[in-house]
Amino acid sequence: MSNNETTQQKMYYPSEASMKNAAISGMDAYNALCKEAEADYQGYWARHARELLDWKQPFTTVLDESNAPFFKWFPDGKLNVSYNCLDRNVEKGLGDKVAVIFEADNGEVTKVTYKDMLSRVSKFANALRGMGVKKGDRVVIYLPMSIEGVVAMQACARIGATHSIVFGGFSAQALRDRIEDAGAVALITSDGQHRGGKALPLKPIADEALTLGGCDSIKNVIVVKRTGGDCNIVAGRDIWFHDAVEGQSEVCEPEWVDAEHPLFILYTSGSTGKPKGVQHSSGGYLLQAVMSMKYTFDIKPDDVFWCTADIGWVTGHTYITYGPLACGATEIVFEGVPTYPDAGRFWKMIQNHKVTIFYTAPTAIRSLIKAADNNESVHPKQYDLSSLRILGSVGEPINPAAWEWYYENVGGGRCPIVDTFWQTETGAHMMTPMPGATPLVPGSCTLPFPGIMAAVVDETGTDVPWGQGGILVVKRPWPSMIRTIWNDPDRFVKSYYPPDFQGKLYLAGDGAIRDAETGYFTITGRIDDVLNVSGHRMGTMEIESALVAHEKVAEAAVVGRPDDVTGEAIVAFVVLKGPRPTGDEAKAVVKELQNWVGHEIGPIAKPKDIRFGENLPKTRSGKIMRRLLRQLAKGEEILQDTSTLENPAILDQLKG
Ligand code: WT7
Repeated sequence: MSNNETTQQKMYYPSEASMKNAAISGMDAYNALCKEAEADYQGYWARHARELLDWKQPFTTVLDESNAPFFKWFPDGKLNVSYNCLDRNVEKGLGDKVAVIFEADNGEVTKVTYKDMLSRVSKFANALRGMGVKKGDRVVIYLPMSIEGVVAMQACARIGATHSIVFGGFSAQALRDRIEDAGAVALITSDGQHRGGKALPLKPIADEALTLGGCDSIKNVIVVKRTGGDCNIVAGRDIWFHDAVEGQSEVCEPEWVDAEHPLFILYTSGSTGKPKGVQHSSGGYLLQAVMSMKYTFDIKPDDVFWCTADIGWVTGHTYITYGPLACGATEIVFEGVPTYPDAGRFWKMIQNHKVTIFYTAPTAIRSLIKAADNNESVHPKQYDLSSLRILGSVGEPINPAAWEWYYENVGGGRCPIVDTFWQTETGAHMMTPMPGATPLVPGSCTLPFPGIMAAVVDETGTDVPWGQGGILVVKRPWPSMIRTIWNDPDRFVKSYYPPDFQGKLYLAGDGAIRDAETGYFTITGRIDDVLNVSGHRMGTMEIESALVAHEKVAEAAVVGRPDDVTGEAIVAFVVLKGPRPTGDEAKAVVKELQNWVGHEIGPIAKPKDIRFGENLPKTRSGKIMRRLLRQLAKGEEILQDTSTLENPAILDQLKG
């Protein structure tokens, strides 16, 4: 890559090496794909669907828009996602190729070939079938990063059961809510998980969830033995994973499902208190998982691909469980954390496994920059990272300083960074550079994935000129898009196809601006009440509901403030039922409320800063003035006129 200073922004152009043999080599190739999609939208997706997926029954209809915005892609086609990830690779002669390199928290490495993976998945799929789990049933998976996690997801896909993963950091209450909403028939969990040298319990949390009520649909609980800690096994309901697969056949006929069959539901935060069950399809979803592996990551047979996300988030679904396997790639699955045994763990693993494509979150990069600044020995320059050829970033905007550091110190100034913008709802990348084509600008996700009709509009849905900020929308449906919100189709329409845009534009929920010269997109942040903390999406209302559920709390308002490491930090303004606490008493209540939120939702939702007031700043009509709270959270001076406030004196109490 080389720098070019002729434009105002520093641009990084792809090197000869990145362009050579790239799936999209040069901007002409990128533009040609975009043109193909514009000229014949359905033909473009259909061509890729035929080339990249194996269909049991070919589709004849590409896109059915008759019930918009409930779009259907390839509706008369039949396929099986697990067949596309495993069997077809074995049939192609990749049986002995390593599919998964699992590295445990303690450094132990297990390699699983495609043949082994197929056998493990088939056995577990047969076990699930034996328990009566069938096509269309929902299965909740509450597992740490593990081979069994990927196997469980693939096994569900194999028998047409719809999985719903609940991140292992979520609380019993959060797990319960998701089990109930999904109406799951089975729960797959483990005795515990290893993280950062510690063994943490998981099954006790699952047990608690099942006692909270509303989980009567669960007939079977399957428990993976991981930590070997004490584990309660309830006779007639619970079974060890290893006992369940014992003696099962290695052959399991896949359930051939319609392309629209729900592959999974994944809960994510919205602007109201209740998380949304984002429902994804089988065919369209898998198509874009594979297309983005091919184009964004330029995946090749010899690559070693590593996505550091957890399978509990969409990134882990698309870029661990489905995309890499459907491409016959070798990938890393990592159980641990980036800072154990020290903050050189990622770099050491890249060196040891000769990782070629590395995909992580800005938060991780920023925390590793800090660690390397404090301790030379964990600086990436101490490691041989010469195997790397492409770097990726996902989950939140990457600030230019972190981008430059990642580019120079991890990528050695030779690896393009693909800053991929997408969402749980989009299933796969929406905007991202192409590594062998797009000139890079730090902090910009650059241009749409070929075929994605992204735009920036005003409140009426009209395009705004380049250089002017607005609302990010997508003008046409795409194959891997959300199909509905489980149990709540009205909320799906309201959230994503609002009447403001005549129901014609997909509303991403982010603001964006296009560069006046290049047309490059930069995401300016959420335009709803959703926060992004360490790349994890959190609804402010969700945290507020948790806070007001505490017996001491009368009222709470939650906002975000910028944070050097986590991107955004959670700040809560709380009014207690009793007198406003100060000094040590306030400190004790802060701890109590933080732990409470951790218990209600999960540790990721704990407010970093909690401030107490006798009231919250409100207008005379009683509306909380969040704009003021955001300023207070940032420590900004309130300069504007606050005379419309009912209670201006409150501001002093909330200064923090
Ligand atoms: C929200 C989606 C995409 C998988 C992980 C997060 C933000 C995501 C970027 C990026 C700027 C980004 C957006 C988006 N976001 N990627 N490259 N640049 N912002 O999925 O939990 O559904 O969150 O994350 O705000 O709407 P998610």
